[in-house]
Amino acid sequence: MAEEAILGYLENHEEISDSGEFAAERGIDHAEIVNVVKSLHGFRFVDTQDIKRETWVLTEEGKKYAAEGSPEVQLFLAVPAEGSISKDELQKKLDSGIFKIGCTQAGKNKWVEMGKHISRKVQHVEDKVKDLLLRIQDGKTIDKDDINSLKARKLIVLQTWKGYSVRKGPNYAPKRKKPATDLTRENLQRGDWKELEFKEYNFSAKGPPPECGHLHPLNKVKDRLKDIFRQLNFEEMPTNRYVESSFWNFDALFQPQQHPARDSHDTFFLQVPSTTRQLPEDYVEQVKEVHESGGYGSRGYGYEWKRDEANKNLLRTHTTAISSQMLYALAQHAKVHPFSPKRYFSIDRVFRNEAVDRTHLAEFHQIEGLVCDRGLTLSHLIGILEDFFSRLGMSKLRFKPAYNPYTEPSMEIFSYHEGFGKWVEIGNSGMFRPEMLRPMGFPEDVSVIAWGLSLERPTMILYGIDNIRDLFGHKVDLTLMKRNPLCLIGIR
Ligand code: PHE
Repeated sequence: MAEEAILGYLENHEEISDSGEFAAERGIDHAEIVNVVKSLHGFRFVDTQDIKRETWVLTEEGKKYAAEGSPEVQLFLAVPAEGSISKDELQKKLDSGIFKIGCTQAGKNKWVEMGKHISRKVQHVEDKVKDLLLRIQDGKTIDKDDINSLKARKLIVLQTWKGYSVRKGPNYAPKRKKPATDLTRENLQRGDWKELEFKEYNFSAKGPPPECGHLHPLNKVKDRLKDIFRQLNFEEMPTNRYVESSFWNFDALFQPQQHPARDSHDTFFLQVPSTTRQLPEDYVEQVKEVHESGGYGSRGYGYEWKRDEANKNLLRTHTTAISSQMLYALAQHAKVHPFSPKRYFSIDRVFRNEAVDRTHLAEFHQIEGLVCDRGLTLSHLIGILEDFFSRLGMSKLRFKPAYNPYTEPSMEIFSYHEGFGKWVEIGNSGMFRPEMLRPMGFPEDVSVIAWGLSLERPTMILYGIDNIRDLFGHKVDLTLMKRNPLCLIGIR
């Protein structure tokens, strides 16, 4: 209706000089006129010019008095024409706000005698305040002093009124057809597509952000590490299982059954199923033998090896539990085929029954690499570590002698961290012992060099995260996944 009124009027008239008056004359809400004018202007049906006017409007309090009368008049009317009324009684008759303001104003106007008892001083009063408020409500003007006194009593406020003067625009037409946004089957059937005006495409409209998955920083770093391993010709080991037997996790690695790491304080043992179903019996015998009485130049540990201990299921404490199985399979293969060297790697989750703090969780990810070949020495290990870590951007390495039950010699790996200005431990490494390799069936001249490190450590350094609980676990803020940058290690 507003649109028809505007376009219709402009057909025969030069301009609508004031949208406010135009609306009032036709009994249309001005806000509606404004909306239509804005929309018509957007499509250049009309040209507009802003009009701004300051007008006085009633406050909530002002509106109340315009309807019910001013407090002073309400108070005056509550005082009897003859005699007097006690203050208490008068107070009971009126609203507390009205009573207070009424007393002040009626006293000021000398309409009543104030005191313990209140009586009229005049017989008749006029509600000038209410009349003034009604005039303002009707959009009429009142004089300056009256404005000031109503303003002082906060009964009116100044409001900027915005409207338009409106003329025909370049696309003016007496009627606006709503542009079609879609070409429908019905349009085609009826043939009315010929007459339709289609809405233009808005190529700069922003689409909704696509809902898609995001990679966790650990996955990004993991992918880059896999690239590095593959560049170096390493094959990935199948680590897709968390449960292992103690045998593969510890015994096969020449880790004695009394070793503290095999305690439930450090290892999560499974209740159901609590034991493994099968182990390669011949090999189990070899392992038992080497633990108890040694061989291959070793004295062994000299204790009674128990099968029950080896059968216990656990959540693997290191991915070396997979390495032991892969190496065993390799040695078995070498028994019937010519031995061929192998390079293996894995990156997967491991579990340790540890107290959780800002650098430790009870589960984390381990990166493990190993090379199995004839005639390998410690120099080969140092060489491959330097090659591997330099691809991660760590080319200053130092090695410190260390101990692992399954490697000899063993080395902790340190890297100089430019940011921290110090040497930080980044991993563990060594050459697998003959006590581990020979029972598997490897020939004497085959050795294995290996190393392991956590995935969390380099990820935290790369992404500047200093609390591991901000990286992994139930407290992680999901925006970490949505906002984290690409991982650029390994790209050179
Ligand atoms: N398994 C070792 C650990 O859990 C890492 C390691 C792997 C050490 C291979 C030496 C050789 O820390």
